[in-house]
Amino acid sequence: MTDTGSSHPHPAPAGCPVHPDAIRLAGLEYQQTPSQLYRALRREHGAVAPVLLDGDIPAWLVLGYSEVTYVTSHDELFARDSRRWNQWENIPDDWPLMPFVGYQPSVLFTEGAEHRRRAGVITEALEGVDQFELARDAQLIAEELIAAFAGSGQAELMTSYAHALPMRVVVQMCGMPTSGDDTRQLVDDLRISLDAAEGDDPVAAYARVGERLRQLVKDKRVAPGPDVTSRMIQHPAGLTDEEIVQDLISVIAAAQQPTANWICNTLRLLLTDERFAVNVSGGRLSVGEALNEVLWLDTPTQNFIGRWAVRDTQLGGRHIKAGDCVVMGLAAANTDPQIWPEAHVGAENAAHLSFSNGEHRCPYPAPLLADVMARTAVETLLERLPDLVLAVEPEELSWRPSIWMRGLTALPVQFTPVVQ
Ligand code: HEM
Repeated sequence: MTDTGSSHPHPAPAGCPVHPDAIRLAGLEYQQTPSQLYRALRREHGAVAPVLLDGDIPAWLVLGYSEVTYVTSHDELFARDSRRWNQWENIPDDWPLMPFVGYQPSVLFTEGAEHRRRAGVITEALEGVDQFELARDAQLIAEELIAAFAGSGQAELMTSYAHALPMRVVVQMCGMPTSGDDTRQLVDDLRISLDAAEGDDPVAAYARVGERLRQLVKDKRVAPGPDVTSRMIQHPAGLTDEEIVQDLISVIAAAQQPTANWICNTLRLLLTDERFAVNVSGGRLSVGEALNEVLWLDTPTQNFIGRWAVRDTQLGGRHIKAGDCVVMGLAAANTDPQIWPEAHVGAENAAHLSFSNGEHRCPYPAPLLADVMARTAVETLLERLPDLVLAVEPEELSWRPSIWMRGLTALPVQFTPVVQ
């Protein structure tokens, strides 16, 4: 693995128009130990580093805890509508980050009063979710997923458990039937559109997701139920069907990947760290501690793109121009030496920035619902397969090649087969 500690590992090409010393963010070595990269960047550039995204598109990476907090709490300076980006003329239509920055008329890109209206509907619809029922539903789904591999004595938990569980729970929370072809097809298409594998067609899958959710909204207008979609329809803000479809896609997408990686990163910690004895008598506290430690040290949303400067301003001693893109380094902020002067990172409290901060933060009560799902997933697995161990050496586990999401490519485990 490359040591990123002393010099620029991937300096920008000579003559980079914006920052001659900008760092390319792409590069596999970073993804395995991003904490080293953040440390090196902080040392050389301070709390706000000039970086190059895919295709050498310039942006700012905010590494400081107080600077990320500043950005997220000053919407009048750093806002969400990506159409103000000053780089659009350099960005091709098939740019890999387009799914994250291409403007969509959803809650994600709205601002001001319109954002409060849309986020308010989501918050109230999510507040209607009964956490005990959610835990029960998550447990039933967990049991079903475990039953599919329990007899074999081995499993790859990323695919067959951590990704599958939150997707199914969230789709059910939105009012799709618990089983049936329609639900299966929607779950499959969501997986393809959010995380396409070789040979998948994410564009076609995304179109089918839109169609299916449009039908769901129509059905729920006629026959509402105790679900998120019906509560969004019934909300006095009077969202149109298309607004509801857009925001349902945002809710499902925003829930799925981070919760899946939260589950998997927690299982990895429990299976590799001797402080957490993995057996039933290890107790619930250990699972709670591991979930919280992951949010501080291996947070699922490492970096979030982003905010766009409304006008020329200063940040961390840098001159930010109107329309510049600001990437929020949530993982770097959580481990900022300014908040951990004694070099020990992590605490029992939840002052991390893993759910972001400010107006656009992960909307209350989504973090609580994610916690119910993740905790249920981890506890149910450890209860059902109490002698679960890694099937490879810990150092053989590899992280996904992404600077955005922190998650494993695979989590192979073995255990005593359970006869059903
Ligand atoms: C039930 C599960 C979840 C749901 C329903 C959910 C929902 C959402 C929604 C709708 C947004 C957009 C908010 C807006 O633009 O106003 C959002 C943003 C976000 N969520 Fe979540 N989320 C879930 C789980 C998680 C998890 C597990 C994490 C990470 C640990 C996470 C981290 C974030 C972050 C970093 C943002 C970006 C906030 C920003 O722009 O500042 N979410 N979430």
